Amino acid sequence: GRVVVLFGGMSAEREVSLKSGAAVLAALEGAGLDVQGYDMAGGLAGLEALRPDRVFIAMHGRGGEDGTLQGALELLGIPYTGSGVMASALGMDKLRTKKLWDAEGLPTPRSCQLAADTDWQVVLDTLGAPVVVKPVHEGSTLGIHIVEDASALEAAWRDASQFDAVVMAERFIKGPEYTVSILDDVALPAICIEADSGFYDYDAKYIANTTRYLLPCGLSAEREAALAELSLKAFSSLGCEGWGRVDVMQDAEGAFWLLEVNTSPGMTDHSLVPQSAAYIGLDFAALVLRILDTTLT
Ligand code: DAL
Ligand code: MG
Repeated sequence: GRVVVLFGGMSAEREVSLKSGAAVLAALEGAGLDVQGYDMAGGLAGLEALRPDRVFIAMHGRGGEDGTLQGALELLGIPYTGSGVMASALGMDKLRTKKLWDAEGLPTPRSCQLAADTDWQVVLDTLGAPVVVKPVHEGSTLGIHIVEDASALEAAWRDASQFDAVVMAERFIKGPEYTVSILDDVALPAICIEADSGFYDYDAKYIANTTRYLLPCGLSAEREAALAELSLKAFSSLGCEGWGRVDVMQDAEGAFWLLEVNTSPGMTDHSLVPQSAAYIGLDFAALVLRILDTTLT
């Protein structure tokens, strides 16, 4: 049957998605499948006209990773890769994700929502400075700031508000950062990320060539197993399925803190899931075919 790779769309992560989509499309073409790419900026009718038998979602952010596209595909009866409507929507909402993890007893840094009438100093005192300010429904570190004082916190809230109507602050864990890729509900080897600037932001993710990815990640076998187990629990507690990536910080005492789940992680040449897959002998094309198979379940 015909496979359509979906990419682009209108989110702030459009540029990242164009790269993910191009890489996925090339891999499926190389595997000899009947495959076409489609930019979701063209709308749903254009996708329907292609009469896909199933779609590979290589979209990031709102309108692609947040459950809305998944809902439309359900109504159209088109099978798609990855998590369903509810888990996609939850995964896109960092605050509700954390509420669920709190309820499950899974460790995630303290946080709160910010608004114009927030007492900035109370936030700093409650969470403990420094804090990270994030748009709640954004990806790729867009609009994120690490701040120590009340005036910087207010300025960060103002900037993050340009990305999202809902903005949060979270206690900052210095790291290192680990990421655990999940494929077919199994955890792949974790990667430890060391950004030159000390912070794995948009530049460190997609532009700089100085970001170091440690694989193997350097944890003892026992600690890595604990990290994998925690990540799988975090993934399944949201109802996520198929594939994804869980981002985790480690504090100075060695404890792990869950940050977020990505239900449609990056598949660019700088991206993390392809690195973890390659480490277990799954090359990019084989990985893409395995992810495509998640449309069948
Ligand atoms: N949100 C980006 C694409 C990622 O998590 O890989
Ligand atoms: Mg993300």
